[in-house]
Amino acid sequence: MKTTCASQKASDFGTGISPGKVIDAFGVGKVVASANPKFEKDDYVVGLISWGEYSVSHGFFLNKLDPMGFPLSYHVGLLGFSGLTAYAGFFEICKPKKGEKVFVSAASGSVGNLVGQYAKLFGCYVVGCAGTADKVKILKEKLQFDEVFNYKEESDLNFTLQRYFPEGIDIYFDNVGGEMLEAAVSNMNLHGRVALCGIISEYTNAEKRATPDLLNVIYKRITIKGFLSGDYMSLFPEFVTKTVDYLHSGQIHVLEDISIGLESVPSAFVGIFRGDNVGKRIVQVSHDTITMKFKDLSAQYFPEGIDIYFDNVGGEMLEAAISNMNLHGRVALCGIISEYNNAEKRATPDLLNFIYKRITIKGFLSGDYMSLFPEFVTKTVDYLHSGQIHVLEDISIGLESVLSAFVGIFRGDNVGKRIVQVSHG
Ligand SMILES: NC(=O)c1ccc[n+]([C@@H]2O[C@H](COP(=O)([O-])OP(=O)(O)OC[C@H]3O[C@@H](n4cnc5c(N)ncnc54)[C@H](OP(=O)(O)O)[C@@H]3O)[C@@H](O)[C@H]2O)c1
Repeated sequence: MKTTCASQKASDFGTGISPGKVIDAFGVGKVVASANPKFEKDDYVVGLISWGEYSVSHGFFLNKLDPMGFPLSYHVGLLGFSGLTAYAGFFEICKPKKGEKVFVSAASGSVGNLVGQYAKLFGCYVVGCAGTADKVKILKEKLQFDEVFNYKEESDLNFTLQRYFPEGIDIYFDNVGGEMLEAAVSNMNLHGRVALCGIISEYTNAEKRATPDLLNVIYKRITIKGFLSGDYMSLFPEFVTKTVDYLHSGQIHVLEDISIGLESVPSAFVGIFRGDNVGKRIVQVSHDTITMKFKDLSAQYFPEGIDIYFDNVGGEMLEAAISNMNLHGRVALCGIISEYNNAEKRATPDLLNFIYKRITIKGFLSGDYMSLFPEFVTKTVDYLHSGQIHVLEDISIGLESVLSAFVGIFRGDNVGKRIVQVSHG
């Protein structure tokens, strides 16, 4: 983080990083060895952990973690500081009343999406903004925001907000600052409240400063209040209890954007400023979290069990799927890419599940089904013509890209069929 303003010194976390020094982050880890009586080997911990596959901590701002059956990643985002920021910012700073009209910017980010969800659950009318059509769709369809717009497609934000809030905004949860803050202030109602959480549009441009019309603030008695979530630790138990209840009842959705490997940190970080992330951006540097995540995710997404699992990856995902299959479940074993470049790795699904649930797992090779080719092509062409099927392709150009295109498959770089185009025609 850059230090651009003297007041950043008011918080230990707001100061800049020093070249050559480790970089701290909020994370989850597992204790390998401990000389601190607070922690034992194999404990999960959450708090300030420096970037690295291994890190040394003196125990400052680090606590033992009970994952409560949730994926470890939840404790970095939803049940960690992003969640607390959204919860404290919305309920303590904005002091909402049911039916009030709420606007949230960077609404697909880790804080914004939760602000919107808390506000909806509380009974407010919620409009969000985000920077891509996909994000708009997720927020509207999955998270049930009342309205969402792509601010990059709007030429006059003041007018845009008038359109979405013909009766004015009661609460603005600001994550971006800049022109969006100016436009929101112009559209606030009497006694409106602005929670100033972040100003991401200004972080990479030291010249940029929002200049809201302060006469609006005076005449409409608007409150603009900056806050740091760390000041609201006393709300942590209440926030976790409520959020866990919402999770269990399926009323809150988790948006996470996880990249794998320490080497992905720079691109994951820079991508935030391009708006690449959907939800909490997390970098997973160790394997342990995967096992836990798969197991719990399967249970979370299939509370009534899985009937069919089409397996392309093998490994822990297959194990987790088998644990969550229904009676007479069927598994098509198509590929096991997670095991291809690790000769030691083998899925070890619990075979008792196969027996008691009469599960069938069947490996197959598509070449054995050439007789289906005409039927498959006819149907798929029909779907293509009627626009019912979408094509995902990932084309790289030139013979020289073959190697990276191939290796990238094992890193998950491709979206859809990876094809190398070697000729121009
Ligand atoms: N006060 C606190 O205690 C506290 C705690 C945590 C975070 N924060 C702040 O709260 C804000 C949100 O944090 P977060 O963790 O939710 O963020 P995040 O998950 O990292 O998401 C950031 C999102 O902001 C949007 N964005 C990036 N550049 C932008 C620009 N120039 N103009 C408008 N939008 C832009 C992008 O989405 P789209 O462009 O696609 O919308 C991006 O995905 C940040 O400013 C952060 O610094 C404050």
